Amino acid sequence: MIGKLNHIAIVVPDLKAASDRYRDVLGADVSAPDDLPDHGVTTVFVSLANTKIELLHPLGEGSPIAKFLERNPDGGIHHLCLEVEDIQASKTQLTAAGVRILGSGEPRKGAHGKPVLFLHPKDFHGALLEIEEA
Ligand code: CO
Repeated sequence: MIGKLNHIAIVVPDLKAASDRYRDVLGADVSAPDDLPDHGVTTVFVSLANTKIELLHPLGEGSPIAKFLERNPDGGIHHLCLEVEDIQASKTQLTAAGVRILGSGEPRKGAHGKPVLFLHPKDFHGALLEIEEA
């Protein structure tokens, strides 16, 4: 079912400091910040040859990553995003296997404008997985 690793997401307490660090210290190609009010996050993408790193910072009230940052004030790895060909088919297969889908259970538009779902970390050994239709 799964294809490529689309990105690894890291929640950071200071998006500018994190962007500068990846660009200036690692020499990475870093995007401008993008506000995603529907997701309650601001994202910056660090493009690598084979995948991306998504730097995440809370946006607005009730951001889904606000608690994560409270528990991890220095930031930390938040989720992995894996590509799938057909998100509805994947959803059917995953729920049949007993995997819980977070939120409404329906795909939402993700950071790249493609449909995404988040899977319950307890169903994947403590890792939060995002699946994105590639
Ligand atoms: Co993501």
